[in-house]
Amino acid sequence: NKVVLAYSGGLDTSVIVPWLRENYGCDVVCFTADVGQGIKELEGLERKAKASGASQLVVKDLREEFVRDFIYPCLRAGAVYERKYLLGTSMARPVIAKAMVDVANEVGADAVSHGCTGKGNDQVRFELTFFALNPKLNVVAPWREWDITGREDAIEYAKKHKVPVPVTKRSIYSRDRNLWHLSHEGDILEDPTNEPMKDMYMLTVDPEDAPNKPEYVEIGIESGLPVSFNGKKLSPASLLSELNEIGGRHGIGRVDMVENRLVGMKSRGVYETPGGTILFAAVQELESLTIDRESMQVKDSLALKYAELVYAGRWFDPLRASMDAFMEKITESTTGSVTLKLYKGSVTVASRKSPYSLYRKDISSFENSLIYDQADAAGFIRLYGLPTRVRSMLKQGI
Ligand code: ARG
Ligand code: SIN
Repeated sequence: NKVVLAYSGGLDTSVIVPWLRENYGCDVVCFTADVGQGIKELEGLERKAKASGASQLVVKDLREEFVRDFIYPCLRAGAVYERKYLLGTSMARPVIAKAMVDVANEVGADAVSHGCTGKGNDQVRFELTFFALNPKLNVVAPWREWDITGREDAIEYAKKHKVPVPVTKRSIYSRDRNLWHLSHEGDILEDPTNEPMKDMYMLTVDPEDAPNKPEYVEIGIESGLPVSFNGKKLSPASLLSELNEIGGRHGIGRVDMVENRLVGMKSRGVYETPGGTILFAAVQELESLTIDRESMQVKDSLALKYAELVYAGRWFDPLRASMDAFMEKITESTTGSVTLKLYKGSVTVASRKSPYSLYRKDISSFENSLIYDQADAAGFIRLYGLPTRVRSMLKQGI
């Protein structure tokens, strides 16, 4: 039998390879997804995987698929978890797990394995995707089975099995990076009273050190999805990387929060989402022109549920797909452009326009117009306020 392992080349996944061979006697196929985490040398990675005992390394570039099919739907839905988290890690797990199911199929594997701990959200996201796409696959989660407890243990295990210990200096933080975001957890962050250190951040400059001159960016949007930047049409992944650069330069998109994990515990995390924060601001702003009051209320209430499902690893639930159909329909006319001003960590709206704008200056202006007669308001308010008047009369015995 054969297992496909989600492989990063770090110490943990390097140790999982011999562990799987020893404990399950199986052939290990390593799989690395490129979701924009910045894989340095692929050749080095293949050599490393084989040195750990893998029979082969499969690498797939998932960047465009990740942004187009996973990030963009969340962006269009306005999905934010617990008021702040833009779901960077949550969206990446289903696209990686889906590719693992494909690889298992291609190489004829009967099992899949990942290096997530038994305390986190990621294990759930991987495994619910495996269940949804191929319920026949066996799942092995070494962290929930083995007795390797720390880094020293892992190094010792590697040495005993003649597996080269990765030389990359491991950071004190647990990080996860992709095209949308970079997350930081662990070490001093585990105490929520500690302010993050200045040198922890990697994608964004400190807003205090950002340029003293603001920069304007114009985001073009078609049916709720970003398509261009300063008039330049770009693929989803290229658009996002460009905005990460610009946003990072201006210290945009830092979030520090304590969140509720699916497994019940609270955890403290810091996120950097420069490009994503810009795109969010743009899409939400354009909706203010194109979406009516009640539609916006329903959309925003569904966005909460949408975010919860994505956070909880239920990407492939029919509920999320159905809500997506709603989001697609309701943002059909959200087309136009938004100009944003980036300045020392802040994103402010400078301008918005849409050919489908519901805003009409001739109606909204303080001048009287033919379509809106101010005299109509008197009757409207009397009837709209009828329940208020009735309650008040009752109180006063009228
Ligand atoms: N708490 C965030 C989430 O659950 C980030 C998790 C980061 N994952 C990681 N393997 N470092 O989405
Ligand atoms: C892990 O436990 O593997 C990372 C953190 C998480 O999944 O929430």
